[in-house]
Amino acid sequence: MIDTEIGVVLNNKMILIENDTIKKIADNIEIPKNALVIDLSNATVLPGLIDCHTHLTFQSGDNYYEMFRKSIVDYAVLAPSYAKNTLGAGFTSVRDVGAESFLDVALKKAIDDGKISGPRMQTATYYISSTGGHGDLVGFSPRLSFNNGPKEMTGIADGVDDVRQKVRYLIKHGAGVIKFGASAGVLSEEESVGAPQYSQEEMNAIVSEAKMWGRKTCAHAHGAKAINMAIKSGVASVEHGSFVDDEGIALMRKNGTYLVADIYVDDYILAEYGKLGFPEDIINKEKIVGLIQRQNFQKAHKAGVKIAFGSDAGVYPHGWNGKQFYHMVKWGMTPMQAIQSATINASDLMGWEDKVGSIAVGKYADIIAVVGNPIDDIKLLENVQFVMKGGEVFKNLIEK
Ligand code: ARG
Repeated sequence: MIDTEIGVVLNNKMILIENDTIKKIADNIEIPKNALVIDLSNATVLPGLIDCHTHLTFQSGDNYYEMFRKSIVDYAVLAPSYAKNTLGAGFTSVRDVGAESFLDVALKKAIDDGKISGPRMQTATYYISSTGGHGDLVGFSPRLSFNNGPKEMTGIADGVDDVRQKVRYLIKHGAGVIKFGASAGVLSEEESVGAPQYSQEEMNAIVSEAKMWGRKTCAHAHGAKAINMAIKSGVASVEHGSFVDDEGIALMRKNGTYLVADIYVDDYILAEYGKLGFPEDIINKEKIVGLIQRQNFQKAHKAGVKIAFGSDAGVYPHGWNGKQFYHMVKWGMTPMQAIQSATINASDLMGWEDKVGSIAVGKYADIIAVVGNPIDDIKLLENVQFVMKGGEVFKNLIEK
C-alpha cells in the first residue's frame, strides 16, 4: 500500500471500509461478520488518482472539424463515456477546467447522484477569457463568433467590472473553481502562444472576486510575463507554465503556487493533430511549446515548486491520463513524487485534502490497485486494474 502522505510503500495492510469511508488501516483487522473481503495481496494499492486539468465535456483529440459540427447536445451525449473512461483509468477525482453551457455541472450532478459512473468533479464551468483570447473563437469570420450569442453563455469578459460579474455568474451556476486565460494558447488561432491576454488589474479582480466567494483560481498561462502576472494576482495554480522564467519560479516558491504542467500531450498533438485536420499554425505553435515546457517543468520541480498532476485530458482521449506519469519521471521526478503529485498534492490544490488524496481514516474509500510495483515501473499506472470509488468497486481485473 502506498502511503502518499509520508511517501512510503507499506506491506501487509488491511483497510476497513464502511459505506463510502475508510474506517481503519492496520496490519491485522478482525474482519467483521458479513464484510465483503477483497484480496489485493498480489497488487500495489494506492489512493484514487486525481487529475487537476481535464475537460470531461469534450474531446478535441477526435477531429478538428467535428468540434465545430458537434452541438452541445452531442457533447452531452458523449460526456458520460468520457467520465467513465477517466474513472476506469483510476482517476477517481478531477478538477475540470473549462466547459460550455454548464455541461460540467450537469455531469457532476449526475455522477454525484449515482446516475452515471465517473470521477468526483470540481467544476470551473466557462473558461474566462478576454475578447480574442484563447477562450474566444479566433481566426474565423466575425459571423462565427461567440460574441454573437448571449454573453451569459460564453466565458468572455473584458474589464474589471465585467470579469467580476462573470466570476459571480459562474459561481452562481456551479463553478467550484475559477479558471481564466492569463495568456494566449496553443490550440487556438491567436498569433501568439504566450502573450498576456488580461491586464494585471483584470487578473487581480478575478482572483479577489473568486476568493470572496470562497473559490480558488487557476490560470492558463504559457508565456513568462503572463505567468508572473497570474502568480502575482494570487492564483492557486498556473496551468501549462511552458515558458516559466527564474522570476516565476521564485514567485511560485514564495507564494506556494502550484504548477500544473500537461507534459504528456505534446506527444499526442504532434503525432495525431495533423491527421485530425488541425491547422498547421496550431501544430507549429505546439512545436514552439512542447520541449521547452518539459525542460521548464524539470527546472521548476528541481527548484522546489509544488507540482500537481494535470494532463489536459480531452486534448487527447479521455482515459489515457496515466500516460503522463512516465513523462514526469523522465523529466525529473521520482516515481513516488509523480504519484504524490496526482494524489496528496492534487487534493491539497483542490482544497479537498480532508476527503481524498491518501488512504487515510475518515477519507473516501477511493482506492486503486495494480499488479506489480509502480515505484519500480511507473508505466503500470497506464493500466490500472482495480478501481474503487467511495467504497464501490467500479473495476476489478485482479481478483478472478
Ligand atoms: N490547452 C492547451 C493550449 O491550447 C494545450 C497545450 C498543449 N501543449 C502542451 N505542450 N502542453 O494551450
